[in-house]
Amino acid sequence: MIKFHQPYKPEKSLKYIEKNLRALELSGDNFFTNKCESFISDYINGKKVLMTTSCTHALELAIRLLDIKNGDEVIIPSFTYPSTANAVLLAGAKVVYARVNLDTMLIDPDLLEEQITNKTKAIIVVHYGGRCCDMNPILSIASKYNIDIIEDAAQAFGSTYNGKFAGTLGTLGCFSFHQTKNITSGEGGALIINDENLIKRAEIIRQKGTNQEAFKSGLVPRYEWVDIGSSYSPSDLLMALLYGQLQQLEKIQNLQMSLFKTYVDFFKKHNFDSLESFSNFSSYGQVNGHIFYLLFKDAATATAYKSYMRENNIQVVTHFVPLHISKKGSSYLRPQDDFTPEDDLSIRLIRLPIYAGLMPSDQKIVLEKTLTFMR
Ligand SMILES: Cc1ncc(COP(=O)(O)O)c(C=O)c1O
Repeated sequence: MIKFHQPYKPEKSLKYIEKNLRALELSGDNFFTNKCESFISDYINGKKVLMTTSCTHALELAIRLLDIKNGDEVIIPSFTYPSTANAVLLAGAKVVYARVNLDTMLIDPDLLEEQITNKTKAIIVVHYGGRCCDMNPILSIASKYNIDIIEDAAQAFGSTYNGKFAGTLGTLGCFSFHQTKNITSGEGGALIINDENLIKRAEIIRQKGTNQEAFKSGLVPRYEWVDIGSSYSPSDLLMALLYGQLQQLEKIQNLQMSLFKTYVDFFKKHNFDSLESFSNFSSYGQVNGHIFYLLFKDAATATAYKSYMRENNIQVVTHFVPLHISKKGSSYLRPQDDFTPEDDLSIRLIRLPIYAGLMPSDQKIVLEKTLTFMR
């Protein structure tokens, strides 16, 4: 079976995990958490980074930091993971969906402005598949209406837009290091804080609403409860695993990008009639090759392709059920919203195997079988 995804080999992490276990520093904010935060901060050019237990939690923290609450609205793409919406709903606010462009699966800036109301407090953009949204028009809309941008960069660690890294383009950015991502700690995430005024409160909310950070820096004699918070700092053991992965970032990215390029070249060359679009490079910056998808024009061909590939022992998979047709999310669709073109994305979009450990010879089989099917 050619697998859809596997994390990159953890050998590099083993010595760090052992070091962490021997030091018996298993709780959060120890040596390896600091190492990961500094590494990521240096990598994305110096922004404040707080490691979190997941991207889901980074999103929740971001919404709390912007004081989004009951009566507020937050715009999100319908084509996303439920975490993007849950963060908003947990704060008591409402989600309003924005359309994605089916050429890119990214929020369509031309259709965004009409979703804004006088209750809109923020827009969460999703850099789907590790390709950044077209941020300039989105940032202009945000500044026109005085709205914050949160980047759900769960899939976009290492991607850029006009020379700036994903996660550093809005007020706050959220990364995922879940097992499915290019770089992983199994479960894990990070919050990137691009507005310095939010740093202190973020540290407090992340540490159960206490001023532990001030205590550790010697600014207060003891730490105490100062705000409503939660527990978002990951175990240092997981950060030891992540640090080993980060040490191999360049290698993992090069392998991933080489596979991505092979896919793009192949599908460009063949220009199959049955496809509406497929993953591509970005004209605005680098992609991280996290996902390679095919968007079929019709659902029946997509389903037949998936079955054919599975019969040939190749694991290809669909992706999100768009939130506006999901059991929970359908109730947030407003009467004026028309999302019909996105209704069947959970069937029409198929992802191909791509991960740093995928052998080029296996990718060749994926392409050969695809060619046979398409013909
Ligand atoms: C767009 C998006 N947002 C958020 C998440 C949640 O990430 P995590 O599993 O780290 O909580 C995911 C997970 O894949 C995702 O794809």
